[in-house]
Amino acid sequence: MLNEDTPLTPVNKAGKLSSDASEKGDLSMPAKVDMGKIVSLCKRRGLIFPSSEIYGGLASCWDYGPMGVELKRNVRDAWWKSIVHERDDVVGLDTSIMMHPGVWTASGHIDSFTDPLVECKSCHLRWRDNEIEGESCPKCGGELTEPRMFNLMFKTFMGPVEEEASTIYLRPETAQGIFVNFDSVITTSRKKLPLGIAQIGKSFRNEITPGNFIFRTREFEQLELEYFVKPGTDEEWLDYWVKERFDWYVKLGIRKENLRLRQHGKDELAHYARDCYDVEYLFPMGWSELEGIANRGDFDLIQHAKCSGRELSYYDAEAGEKYVPYVIEPSAGVDRSVLAFLIDAYDEEEVEGEKRTLLHLHRDLAPIKVAVLPLSRNEKLTPLAKEVFNKLCRNFVTDYDDSQSIGRRYRRQDEIGTPFCVTIDFESLEDKQVTIRERDSLAQIRVPVEELGKILAAKLKGEAFDASTLWATRQK
Ligand code: GAP
Repeated sequence: MLNEDTPLTPVNKAGKLSSDASEKGDLSMPAKVDMGKIVSLCKRRGLIFPSSEIYGGLASCWDYGPMGVELKRNVRDAWWKSIVHERDDVVGLDTSIMMHPGVWTASGHIDSFTDPLVECKSCHLRWRDNEIEGESCPKCGGELTEPRMFNLMFKTFMGPVEEEASTIYLRPETAQGIFVNFDSVITTSRKKLPLGIAQIGKSFRNEITPGNFIFRTREFEQLELEYFVKPGTDEEWLDYWVKERFDWYVKLGIRKENLRLRQHGKDELAHYARDCYDVEYLFPMGWSELEGIANRGDFDLIQHAKCSGRELSYYDAEAGEKYVPYVIEPSAGVDRSVLAFLIDAYDEEEVEGEKRTLLHLHRDLAPIKVAVLPLSRNEKLTPLAKEVFNKLCRNFVTDYDDSQSIGRRYRRQDEIGTPFCVTIDFESLEDKQVTIRERDSLAQIRVPVEELGKILAAKLKGEAFDASTLWATRQK
């Protein structure tokens, strides 16, 4: 059973919240942080930029800047560490984005990965059937066509000839790359079931209503685990993974009160799912899906076996039986997780009459771990400051900044969530000691340069920042 501490939204346990709940967010919930502030911080501090901005941008496409690319990488690494490296029952995989078109027929995406759309006969804009009230186009008032099914997969052609026979699709989920490699992984890894296969990679969906910054885009990155189990043990494993995945977000700093679980109603389940829970986060637009954990049963392996002609089963040598495994699938989005981590970390406070904006990012996620800041760009300070930087950057992602006032440089680091700043001042030249300043408490400790690497390594592993035993000031 799911842990009692894990909030499962009772209103939805029995069924669907509303057709729009997971699409637009549950709008009855109060907004915490304005999305505009997050977008503006991301632009200002080099986290995320609009794609092709010099050409006016491309709808729903975003680029990760120097800080964003580090943050995104840290999210991927944290997931991979907890799912693959810290377990002996999961292996990794990296499959190609373009796959044989037969994969998508077998998986049901050709027939079922669709949305009903109506088209305006005058301005030719397309609308989701359930998005419009009345009979006419919300933009120009024109007459609308009957609803037609619109497939969300991006089509392209492989090779020089643009014809039906060379049509291929950009994958709309990374999961299928795992299913079609099931046999190869099982026979080469010599592992027993239950066994998980994990993959991180880009997926593409021609979403009708993308939006809310990087929440719903047409190109995005997924973190997917297909966990193969013996039929009959699937419900237990579903509970296990729901809890594991909920706890992962909490461990990385998301406040528990901003997370909840929602079980899908029967009418809402994807065509392959027997059961599914969403981990939802309280985004500024309301409670929305962060991750789905589905019980896919044996749908995918059966379908691929049928369509490819290759047997996809597992032989349990100990029990002397052969069966088609069931699959539990925790499936998260890198971009959506990045957004949730940013929103949850965002804070504003007043320090000495000035507004301080900061990101309380978990140390494992922070793009920069340590910033080396000489008190000023003074030729006497530079050699020691550079020496400190050169030592630290071998072990931590370190920034060196000697431009503008020290106060402004602290603020800049606060805004990207840097947990520690190291300041080199004129006294450092005499006593070979430097100051470490902690982002959240603003507490400072002074430590010998030779000890710096060791101390920072301990703090970045989670050791408390205790300023009481050393000389310290709280410069608020
Ligand atoms: N293989 C199952 C699957 O793909 P999904 O619920 O459609 O399930 C899983 O997607 C996760 O991928 C979502 O919870 C979300 O985090 C992310 N995701 C899906 N569509 C997305 C989009 N258009 N933009 C950003 N992230 C998306």
